[in-house]
Amino acid sequence: MNQLQMVVIDADEASRNSVIKFIEELGFIELIGDFENMLTAYDVIMQARPPLVFFDLTENVDLALDTIEKITSVHKNIFIFAASHNIDADLVIQTMRAGAREFLTKPVVKDDFYRALKKSRNILKQEQDSTEGKIYSIFSNKGGIGKTSIATNLALQLTELTGERVCLIDLNLQMGDIATFLDINPSFDIAYVITHLSRLDESFLHSSLEKYKDKDLFILADPPDIEQAEEISADDISSLLTFLKTMFGYIIIDTSSSFDVKTLTCLDISDYIFLVLMVNLPSIRNCQKCLSLFKRLEYDEDKIKLIVNRYVEDDEITVEDVEEALNHSIFWKIPNNYFSLMSSINKGVPISELEPTCDVSRNFTRLAEELSGVAVPHLEEQEENDSLLSKIDIDAIKEKLIELNLPVVNKFIKQQEQ
Ligand SMILES: Nc1ncnc2c1ncn2[C@@H]1O[C@H](COP(=O)(O)OP(=O)(O)O)[C@@H](O)[C@H]1O
Ligand SMILES: [Mg+2]
Repeated sequence: MNQLQMVVIDADEASRNSVIKFIEELGFIELIGDFENMLTAYDVIMQARPPLVFFDLTENVDLALDTIEKITSVHKNIFIFAASHNIDADLVIQTMRAGAREFLTKPVVKDDFYRALKKSRNILKQEQDSTEGKIYSIFSNKGGIGKTSIATNLALQLTELTGERVCLIDLNLQMGDIATFLDINPSFDIAYVITHLSRLDESFLHSSLEKYKDKDLFILADPPDIEQAEEISADDISSLLTFLKTMFGYIIIDTSSSFDVKTLTCLDISDYIFLVLMVNLPSIRNCQKCLSLFKRLEYDEDKIKLIVNRYVEDDEITVEDVEEALNHSIFWKIPNNYFSLMSSINKGVPISELEPTCDVSRNFTRLAEELSGVAVPHLEEQEENDSLLSKIDIDAIKEKLIELNLPVVNKFIKQQEQ
């Protein structure tokens, strides 16, 4: 975090200019706008989402508090410095409740302003690391490898497991499959959301992203027309993802198979790229090409997680062979289960809902656990316990107890026999 962006709102010109002067002297703040009018500033803030806002309350306190609340309810990471000549305790409390993080007394003194800014810089840095959503892209430069199956099921499992809001995006802009895989008919799509990016707040989000059943899984489908897909730019994708990061715990992207500029933008912004391959020579070769491109792009090795899909044990080529050929460790293996996966796709029901106990569904749950750090008791562990119980020979235990001839046991057995 080097240059932090800031917006200044102050109806009083002299006071506004003095704050601007402080900012210019500081060096680590970029002033992206100064406004007399808070409503004009509001539109800029919602669009540009600067991390810092200086907000004078004097002109219209009620409207100012309302606006602060609106901004901070959507952009939790925006640090608002409220300022007023009035330092009445009630006003300070109301302002902080509306979401401001600092209250400065006017006329603003340079030292106070700097202290508050430095504090905000540290807090923002920590918050950015801990509260922003994670972007996971599922990628392969070949189709038919399982990207959509992985993206949909991983998104659903993360939603179930973490209780966080998850956004599933179809970036196969020209021929996405997510709507078919989930049997949904979204009213809006990514092209619509991008053209209304400046309006993207909590309520717009709920009305324009398709909610999957009653879950906290929101789907952003591909546009219905190829022409609309063409109109979406790499910058649009970048703004969309940067914004969604502030609103969702996880953003799962089903990417296109080509290395176009939009896909690369999305891979750049991703926290992890799940590069999917199968254990066969053409797939390994493709994967090599992707890895070497990622190296040229100077992606951190840790950012790229290899997923072997349709894994079969005792294959001619072993996982170790693959790791050696790629000089990269395999992060995850998903078992081969063609019939269950096919049936799930044909029915438009994710496999983790259609067959929650099958090997692939359990595998997706474990993958979501691994990524989120949240663990649930496994069904197979439960079954192991059940099967242990079934192995206990109750009759043999009863015989032993009778042999012991204990009064309490004899009484119990008599009661049972009556
Ligand atoms: N783990 C798996 N086991 C068996 N078949 C799978 C598995 N994952 C995906 N498939 C099958 O592979 C095909 C392609 O899957 P899909 O998710 O559409 O891939 P992509 O999105 O990469 O084109 C589908 O028919 C699907 O049923
Ligand atoms: Mg697909």
